[in-house]
Parts: sequence; C-alpha cells; structure tokens
Amino acid sequence: MTAAPDGAAPYGGRYGEDVFRPEQEGEGERIDFGALAYDEITMARLRALGVGPGWRCLDVGAGTGTVSRRLLEEAGVASVLAVDRDVRFLSERSVPGLDVREADVTALDFAPGRFRLVHARFVLMHLPEHERLIARLAELVAPGGVLVLSDAVDLTSDRTPATPYTTVMRAMWQGLRATIGTDVSWVPSYPQLLRGAGLARVAAEIHVPPLLPGSPLSRFWADTWERSRAALLATGLVDDAAVDVAVRYLGSDDCAALSAGMLTAWGWKPGETALR
Ligand SMILES: C[S@@+](CC[C@H](N)C(=O)[O-])C[C@H]1O[C@@H](n2cnc3c(N)ncnc32)[C@H](O)[C@@H]1O
Repeated sequence: MTAAPDGAAPYGGRYGEDVFRPEQEGEGERIDFGALAYDEITMARLRALGVGPGWRCLDVGAGTGTVSRRLLEEAGVASVLAVDRDVRFLSERSVPGLDVREADVTALDFAPGRFRLVHARFVLMHLPEHERLIARLAELVAPGGVLVLSDAVDLTSDRTPATPYTTVMRAMWQGLRATIGTDVSWVPSYPQLLRGAGLARVAAEIHVPPLLPGSPLSRFWADTWERSRAALLATGLVDDAAVDVAVRYLGSDDCAALSAGMLTAWGWKPGETALR
C-alpha cells in the first residue's frame, strides 16, 4: 500500500476523479436518486433539531444542493453556504440565500464558529482522515450550534443471505475502498467522534429505506454499481455477468434485500448562540 498524501485515499484515488466523475453524463441524476431516497429523513431530523428561520448554515459536499435549497425554501433558514469540490450542479439553480463555494473539505479556510448548522451527508465516508475532518467541522460550528453528519452503514454481513445484491454490495464496498478510500467501517463511531471533538448532547439514528423495484434507492444503487463497475470487477469477487444479474435483481419483484442504511449523528457546541 502506498503512503496516503494528505487528502488522498490509501491507493491514491479520489472521489470525483477515479470514480463518480461529475462530468460523466448522469452523475447529477445519480446523486439526485440518493437525495430522493433520503432528503425527507434528513429534513425531518434537521427540523427536529430546531433548524429554521435566522440560521446560518454550511452544507459540506453539497452535491446537487437538494438539502441546501430545502433548508432555504422549506425550513426558512437565513443563508446556506454550499461547498463542494465541483460546483457545476450547485450553480445550475440558484435560490436567494444560497452561496456556492468550490473548495476541498479537507482544506477549508473558514474562520471558526461561523455557522449555527454544519451539515455533511455521504461525504466524509469517501475521505481519509475522518477524525481530523470531524474536529475541523466541529470548529466551524458557532457556540450553541449543531454539527450533523450522515453516512452509510453497511448492513451486508456474513449472516446476510447470499443474493446477487449482497455479493455486488460487498464487492462495491471493497472496490471503492481500494480505489478511492471509501470506508464506512468507522461510521458507527460517529457519536464517540463527535463527543471527542468537544460536542455535547450527542445522539444518532439509523434509517433504512425499503429497496422496492423502481424506487429512487434501487436506481441509486444500480447507477452507483454501473459507475464503479471497474472497481467492482477489480476485486475479483464479481464479473460483468454478476453485476448485470444484480442490477436486474434490484429492478425485479424477486428483490428481497436490505439496503445499506444512513446513520445520522449530531452534537451541539457548548455555549450560547450569538448567531441566529
Ligand atoms: C455522494 S455525494 C453527496 C451529495 C450530497 N451531500 C447529498 O447527500 O445529496 C458526495 C459529494 O461530496 C463531494 N465531495 C467529495 N469529496 C470532496 C472533497 N474532498 N471536498 C468537497 N466535496 C467533496 C462530491 O463532489 C459530491 O458532490
């Protein structure tokens, strides 16, 4: 294994360069399928945490910006700074209060304590040095504000029945880890990591939307496998035919499987908020 330079995966690949390239046709749609599956859950949690009028928010790795826009349009927050390493999807539809910044989350140069909400969904799992990143994101939260992190939890285990889906899922996690360093094994540690970053009243929850044929979630996984097919095949766990069978299985009435879940964890910065 080569040494990992700062911000790089153990094997040197990066999200958006070696897999999930934003310039590849349909990448925005793939992110949107994930958003369709999870946005309601995310927004319900953010509202339950009190996010609303007057809040200044940071959405890290904002993707196509569905959460950033819904924070403004539905929750009525004051402003959202949406940051991504590639902002082409964010720039497509501007709404009042939305600021877009092209930047790498591993090297954000913001002053500490600027945001009442810092949010990152399905981003940190793709990046190395998650502990340092979580500490950095916690610094950006204003006293009295909240850091909310969501990432995938892998529910395929040795005890999961072997189906075309579970075989390809295993190959996907292994292949993404080898190619760009994606690692979800530490996601269940989020609560402890948030506490370790000095946040208080830490809590977490997991949601697993149903894998129904034709659902946004099924289409998200099929699309994700398609775009990372080379990484899947390189594991030696599956061949092209096995990936094709799994894609058909996902879209069929035979599909009887558990999706990966989304773990959301949050923690509050001690102190009174001076920001609304
Ligand atoms: C799976 S998408 C999730 C998008 C959005 N957060 C959502 O949940 O719908 C991951 C996003 O993180 C961005 N990203 C990946 N690595 C990044 C980095 N080092 N710095 C900033 N953004 C990054 C990608 O460009 C992509 O838009």
